[in-house]
Amino acid sequence: MAYNLLKGKRGIIFGALDENSIAWKTAERVHAEGGTFVLTNAPIAMRMGQIDVLAKNTGSQIIPADATSIEDLTNLVEKATEILGGKLDFVLHSIGMSVNVRKGKLYTDENYDFTAKGWDVSALSFHKVMQTLYKADAMNEWGSIVALTYMAAQRTFPDYNDMADNKAYLESIARSFGYFFGKEKNVRVNTISQSPTPTTAGQGVKGFDGFISYAEKMSPLGNASAQDCADYTVSLFSDLTKKVTMQNLFHDGGFSNTGVSQEVIEYFSK
Ligand SMILES: NC(=O)c1ccc[n+]([C@@H]2O[C@H](COP(=O)([O-])OP(=O)(O)OC[C@H]3O[C@@H](n4cnc5c(N)ncnc54)[C@H](O)[C@@H]3O)[C@@H](O)[C@H]2O)c1
Repeated sequence: MAYNLLKGKRGIIFGALDENSIAWKTAERVHAEGGTFVLTNAPIAMRMGQIDVLAKNTGSQIIPADATSIEDLTNLVEKATEILGGKLDFVLHSIGMSVNVRKGKLYTDENYDFTAKGWDVSALSFHKVMQTLYKADAMNEWGSIVALTYMAAQRTFPDYNDMADNKAYLESIARSFGYFFGKEKNVRVNTISQSPTPTTAGQGVKGFDGFISYAEKMSPLGNASAQDCADYTVSLFSDLTKKVTMQNLFHDGGFSNTGVSQEVIEYFSK
């Protein structure tokens, strides 16, 4: 069901790779709610993904940008405001990648060049995106910026590797930049801490299948899907959440506050 919650609002959506991507589902949902946006992803993802299909279905233009490049981001923000016809009301940062995970390096055997690259892509890019928007004064008052994170920032999940550290940094950026964006431009900044979700990035984590089943059994409401996350993000982009800022918001069916569930107890009582 759509409620026209984003009618007249403009934005940028980072990170739609294929139809499983959280950003893909969010773009579809934002479109259904009347929002208009520019889609962006790393130039290499344009070749691998199917973003053209999403652009066609949502009447959006695509501007490639490596989220670690200030030059690309500056161009993106300039072009997006031109295409959309004004300043922006919402931005979704849905970007993550660990070279250590990709190359099978364990947390106790990191290659620090890989670590630095993964940090730049997954965490610092959020600062770069916001600094670019801030300097260009590209956000409308009462706009909303959201990035996606995972609970490994607070609690240890061994196979999440250096992404745990990247997410901790990302969440801190949301608080720190949220202060300045709030004070000076009335713009809010939050992170959504999402359940494990079967996407390209999610499935890259070792043991993902066992882990997502475990989370499903632990969460009183079950895991939140990518579609659920899209719904939640729309609420944060809407005018109904104007005073929510500098928060890390758990969207995980209750997993983060559950010590153990009956299902898990039964499994270990066999
Ligand atoms: N899937 C999960 O289990 C899960 C859980 C919690 C949080 N998240 C977070 O959600 C976000 C979206 O991931 P997803 O699960 O939809 O997977 P995904 O693989 O569909 O999306 C990740 C995106 O990051 C993009 N990206 C990588 N390097 C980039 C760069 N240099 N510049 C611009 N874009 C770049 C990829 O092209 C891709 O579109 C990530 O931040 C991820 O960490 C995912």
